[in-house]
Amino acid sequence: MQDRYGRTITYLRMSVTELCNLRCRYCMPVEGIEKKCHENMLSEEEMILAVKAAASLGIRKLRVTGGEPLVKKNIVSICEQAAAVEGISELCITTNGILLPQLAKPLRQAGISRINMSLDTLNAKKYAYISRLGDLDQALAGLEAALDAGFEKIKLNAVLIGGFNDDEIPALAELTRRYPVDLRFIELMPMYDSGDFGPEAFIPYTAALDKLPEAEKVEQDGGVARLYRLPGAQGNIGLISPVSAHFCAECNRLRLTADGKLKPCLHASEEYDIKGLDYEGMRRQFEAAILGKPKWHGELSATSRSHAGRNMNQIGG
Ligand code: GTP
Ligand code: 5AD
Ligand code: SF4
Repeated sequence: MQDRYGRTITYLRMSVTELCNLRCRYCMPVEGIEKKCHENMLSEEEMILAVKAAASLGIRKLRVTGGEPLVKKNIVSICEQAAAVEGISELCITTNGILLPQLAKPLRQAGISRINMSLDTLNAKKYAYISRLGDLDQALAGLEAALDAGFEKIKLNAVLIGGFNDDEIPALAELTRRYPVDLRFIELMPMYDSGDFGPEAFIPYTAALDKLPEAEKVEQDGGVARLYRLPGAQGNIGLISPVSAHFCAECNRLRLTADGKLKPCLHASEEYDIKGLDYEGMRRQFEAAILGKPKWHGELSATSRSHAGRNMNQIGG
């Protein structure tokens, strides 16, 4: 289905939980989040009904997100059922990778076609710092497990943070030579005032590119990243610039939060509730959300923060 600005909406990002086994500093506060009452969150049945309603309106790609989707107990079953919904031709997941050693194979069997995984640093101390609870070796074991399970076109996401990982841009990019993966650098989005990173932490994608003199431009693949490649690499380097050069004109996506709110735009506060609705009711809300999609998300910078009204873990990226 098309929105009011002629954009065809084909991609749904569905968050299955707000909870996470990490506490990344750019994403959520140290205390985590209060666990919401079970009855206020979408049930597994409601999630699948939502996917069916979305598919009937032209959604073809589904990305399962969180929080951390792999901490959800019934994640394999959710993926299995979502993969079976008629019209869904691509089922992906975004994860921090910590639980992939146990779950990569079952997820592949359940019908997940692609995995994106967060990896902001290759230094164990820095990984522990940025994720507050994580262990780099576990994340790397997760990547190995995903490769072993036969996943292809894995994408690693590194959020660019000045004073934290700007010295690692070449080392992170090197991963595309070592593994058959893409490495994407994402501009830090000012979701909430965490106090951890002020304006000095923002690095525009152009500054990252300056540190990769060998990188050559390659064809876009329809995603949100500008693509480059190092000579001899097995995967691409992607640069995602939501702040310095937003890509709203090509936006094809809708988001569904774990508490049942459709968000037409990551950085806008408008939400359309589907909790407790039947198939027809959900379908009407999907239509309303697509028609309510704003043209763009307005200014974003360290001083003009996102109007999302939620932290990233409560949206799903
Ligand atoms: P592919 O299917 O591999 O293209 O994945 P993706 O880039 O859509 O998903 P992923 O979950 O890996 O997201 C990567 C980063 O891009 C995250 O930081 C997202 O928040 C950001 N991102 C994804 N979609 C949007 C969007 O519509 N607007 C903005 N501003 N950022 C987005
Ligand atoms: N800015 C940019 N990217 C973010 N992510 C989470 N919070 C932010 C933020 N404030 C990224 C994670 C994950 C993806 C889904 O979103 O690194 O890979
Ligand atoms: Fe968890 Fe992902 Fe947020 Fe990190 S960025 S705290 S892994 S949801």
